[in-house]
Amino acid sequence: MAPMSMSRSSADDRRPVHRGTVHDVGRYLRELRRNLSGRWRLRGAHVLSAYKRTAAYRRYAQRRELYGASDVFARSALRRVYDQSRYGSLGYHIWFSRRIPGWTKGAEVVELARVSASLPENAVVVEIGSFLGRSAVLLAGARKVRGSGTVHCVDAFDGSGDAFSTPIYDAIREAGRLPLRERFNRNIHQAGLSEWVQVHSGRAGDVADAWTQPIDFLFLDADQSCPGVRALYAKWSRHLKSGGIIAIHNSTASDTQDASHSGPTRLVQQMIRSPEYTPIWCMSSTTFAQKV
Ligand SMILES: C[S@@+](CC[C@H](N)C(=O)[O-])C[C@H]1O[C@@H](n2cnc3c(N)ncnc32)[C@H](O)[C@@H]1O
Repeated sequence: MAPMSMSRSSADDRRPVHRGTVHDVGRYLRELRRNLSGRWRLRGAHVLSAYKRTAAYRRYAQRRELYGASDVFARSALRRVYDQSRYGSLGYHIWFSRRIPGWTKGAEVVELARVSASLPENAVVVEIGSFLGRSAVLLAGARKVRGSGTVHCVDAFDGSGDAFSTPIYDAIREAGRLPLRERFNRNIHQAGLSEWVQVHSGRAGDVADAWTQPIDFLFLDADQSCPGVRALYAKWSRHLKSGGIIAIHNSTASDTQDASHSGPTRLVQQMIRSPEYTPIWCMSSTTFAQKV
């Protein structure tokens, strides 16, 4: 009996020790991994914030902001996987749009695509100010997903506009080998959207004078000066259907960098109001509103 009880008690003694050891090693490894990754994360964050304080980074960020160029991550395959898993069928077009220089960014990117996708069959979408096609890809990609509709892109394609923006358009135009219109065409073609886009090349005011179709979704992103955007709003908003949606880019006060660039913000403050429009909502620097 004695040896049996001894062996049982020694086995009992060993078991908790054994289980405890495995348990401890597991916990130790998990803690080690947490500490290590925490430490690396901390180091990475320190290095990044130190770099962000350098003049070189500030110059890079300012240039990127000014010239609307996308960063390396925005164009990466990883971002594509992310956009497609997060935004479903719109994800590819959202990702493709990020590759094109332009100024739509953050939540407004997704909202432009979502609103365009939410429109009825054969929707008429009009974009005033297309530049290289960054936002056109969002609007037209969504219509391709829905399988009907046309996105009308209105732009002079000559880099004209308000006094704040024209030197920036010129710099981008001079940096590219092809004229703006050809670069726009190439981007739309590469995005697989040519048959969803109709281009109206010319002054937006002149195009409006000859316009006859009721519009489901009007995106204003051309002249950013007060008189310029007011004149375009006056000519184009009358074609917006009752129940149609208007989106005005660059229209939040925080986005106003220069007096000659504050037209959209003023326009929204003065004209986009209830009861003519409801609901009114804002995403990044774009104001969206539904005409009553
Ligand atoms: C801010 S960019 C458009 C950016 C584009 N929506 C994007 O997301 O990439 C404005 C464009 O509108 C054009 N533009 C400005 N005023 C215009 C006008 N009155 N008629 C036609 N095009 C105009 C500019 O030359 C420029 O190509």
